[in-house]
This record gives sequence, structure tokens and C-alpha cells, in this order.
Amino acid sequence: MEERRITERPPEEVEDPSQDVERTVAVELSAVTKRFGEFIAVDDLTLDIYEGEFFSLLGPSGCGKTTTLRMIAGFEEPTEGGISVGGDPMRRVPPYRRPVNTVFQSYAIFPHLNVFDNVAFGLRRSGVKGEELHKRVTDACEMVQLSGFEKRKPSMLSGGQQQRVALARALVNHPEVLLLDEPLGALDLKLRKEMQLYLKNLQHEVGITFIYVTHDQEEALTMSDRIAVMNEGRVQQVADPPTLYELPRNRFVSDFIGQTNVFSGTVESVSGKRITLSTPSGKVEATAREAEVEVGAEAHAAVRPEKVRFGSEGDNVSTARIQQLVYLGVSTQYIAELPDGEKLVLYQQNSREDANPEIGEEVPVAWDARNCLILGG
Ligand SMILES: Nc1ncnc2c1ncn2[C@@H]1O[C@H](COP(=O)(O)OP(=O)(O)OP(=O)(O)O)[C@@H](O)[C@H]1O
Ligand SMILES: [Mg+2]
Repeated sequence: MEERRITERPPEEVEDPSQDVERTVAVELSAVTKRFGEFIAVDDLTLDIYEGEFFSLLGPSGCGKTTTLRMIAGFEEPTEGGISVGGDPMRRVPPYRRPVNTVFQSYAIFPHLNVFDNVAFGLRRSGVKGEELHKRVTDACEMVQLSGFEKRKPSMLSGGQQQRVALARALVNHPEVLLLDEPLGALDLKLRKEMQLYLKNLQHEVGITFIYVTHDQEEALTMSDRIAVMNEGRVQQVADPPTLYELPRNRFVSDFIGQTNVFSGTVESVSGKRITLSTPSGKVEATAREAEVEVGAEAHAAVRPEKVRFGSEGDNVSTARIQQLVYLGVSTQYIAELPDGEKLVLYQQNSREDANPEIGEEVPVAWDARNCLILGG
């Protein structure tokens, strides 16, 4: 297969530290739209996913994640636009001829077959047998740490082990790209966390491109090299986890990834990137990144809870009455009320000796303009 090398030039508005690094595109979606009747499930989606990347599609239920994955796998055809895998256009290429494999949320393993036969199933159907079959199945089982479990039936395995059988079944075909649709959705929290690290390490070892679908932001942040945040069929931002968290492009991304305090108001003055907003909570000093901001316009500024502190020194200072506190071990989450009744969430590390404020106490709070970002629409 011909390798297509490109020099990445992300659109102006997307921060991407990998700028100008030469990388091979594994999966390319260009202007992909999928309609079901009148309904637009995926709307003008353009994405380059690189070889060896752990790429996640993240977004709320119904935003078009599974539909996107199914189009890459070939179970659905785009209504408009094109998809290439490894540089080859996939239009009208049936699923079984595409160099991709899919792992679904439900394990989709056969309960009556043992681990070996489950993993061997697809290979046997494509005529692999004897020594080669044995070697490939054994290697795949080893890859997912199920050596010694080959004779067991799925009913004798834990949920995580069953999910690893499903993974082995996908990996045994040596796909160029592995598509995973909420593969850990059925697992309990502890197992889910274990499997997240496990999958991340596995991906690193085998070097296969993973396209991972989840609606769980923490899961996406933990595992991914890059994430596409989707809403209502449209990509909102594509970036690495720190960029998504620190520099969300718009209100949707800022709300969806982590927690945030948003101040809405009218732009009172603009001085370079420094913006002063007039809000019901008073003046808020903020920083504009990319958004075009004009005096008199409506704007929203967002500050993360861990960037607000107790104290009266900073670009923004207010008083807040503590309403609720949640002890989280390393930190405490405070929910406080500003003078105009707006809620303010803040996190403090529990490392200091000095007493933390109590419920009902009125305390000064401060945050800096550089941590308070003007959000795009
Ligand atoms: N075959 C279909 N016919 C009609 N509408 C569909 C079809 N498949 C999906 N949709 C609609 O397209 C939208 C996107 O569906 P999709 O399954 O891609 O969402 P999702 O992001 O995977 O959500 P979830 O997190 O709940 O799995 C939904 O509103 C869904 O109802
Ligand atoms: Mg889905």
C-alpha cells in the first residue's frame, strides 16, 4: 500500500502542538455527512487520524460517534464526502475488505465456543488453518494476557477477560486500524480503570491506530493522544487532552470537559488580548485567545475551579459565601455564592496547614485574567 506522507497544517483556529511534524495519515475523513432521511447524524466532518495514534471521538449520547465509526468500518456509507484508510478510498469497499476491525460495547463473543475458538473464528472463515492458525491465535491471546485461558468458555471468564477475548479477536487479523465503540461500557468502574490503562499500553505496544468512541470525558482524557469533541454531528474541537482542558474553543467544549465557571456579560473594553467584561457579578478581567471580541458585544469568560483561590490578590477579586464543601482527599471542592447569587466552584489542594473556610463563611476569592478565557460561540 502506498504511504502518503503529509505535513500537517492544522486550521488556524485549532491549537495543535504537532504542527509541522511529518506524520502518516491512517484514516482521512473529508467533508463526511450522514443523513438518515431528513435527520443529519454527522455533519460535514473532516478529520485526519494519524498512524499509531490513540484517537478518541468524545461527545454526548446521539452526537454521531457510532455513526462515524460505522462509516469507517463500512457498515454505513456517507451520504456525502469521502473516507480513506491508508490512503485508499473506501467508497463501496465492503466491511470485510477494509483494513479495519471493530470492537463493540457488547462483547459479541460466542458463548458456546472456548477462548481459542472464539479468537480463531474469523481466521478459520478466511481459510487460515494448521500451524499458522495456532500461532496467530496463541500470539493474540498472549497479547491480551489470556495465555492459559484458551480452553475456557466465556461463562468462566470475568467481564474484563471477556472483553479481552473480543480484543484478541479483532487483533488477530492484524488490522491497520482498530475501531472501539465504548468497549468498556459494560464493566464496573474499577475494572474499567484497569482496562483503560491496559488498552493504552496495548496500543502503545502493538502500534496499531486506535479510534476510540466514548462519552466519558475522563476516559478520553486518560487514554487519548488526541480527541475530537463532537456535538450534534459536528466536531467542536480537535486537540490533545491538555489543550482541550486549558484552551477550550467554545462553551460546549469548556462545559463538556471538566468543570468550569462561566461569566456572561458585555465587553466593556479591549486592550490587545486583555478584555474587561461587565457582568452581573461585577467587572471580570479576561483574556481573548482567538475569538474576535468587540466592545459592546455579548461574551462569556470561563475560569477552571482549580484556578480560583482564596485570597484578595489577583486580577479578579470578589467575596464569596461558602455553601457546600466536598472533601476529595487530595483536594476539597467548594461551592460558593458570589454577591449577585451566581455560583462559583473552586478546588483547593489539601496540602496546607492553615484552616480551610467553613460552610457559611464569607471569604475573599481571586483569579487571574490569564486563566479566564473568552469563549467562542
Ligand atoms: N439507522 C438510523 N436511522 C435513523 N437515525 C439514526 C440511525 N442510526 C443513528 N441514528 C441517529 O443518529 C444520531 C447519532 O447516532 P449515533 O449512534 O451515532 O450516536 P452516538 O454518538 O454513538 O450516541 P451514544 O453515545 O448514545 O451511543 C442519533 O440521533 C440517532 O438516533
Ligand atoms: Mg454510540
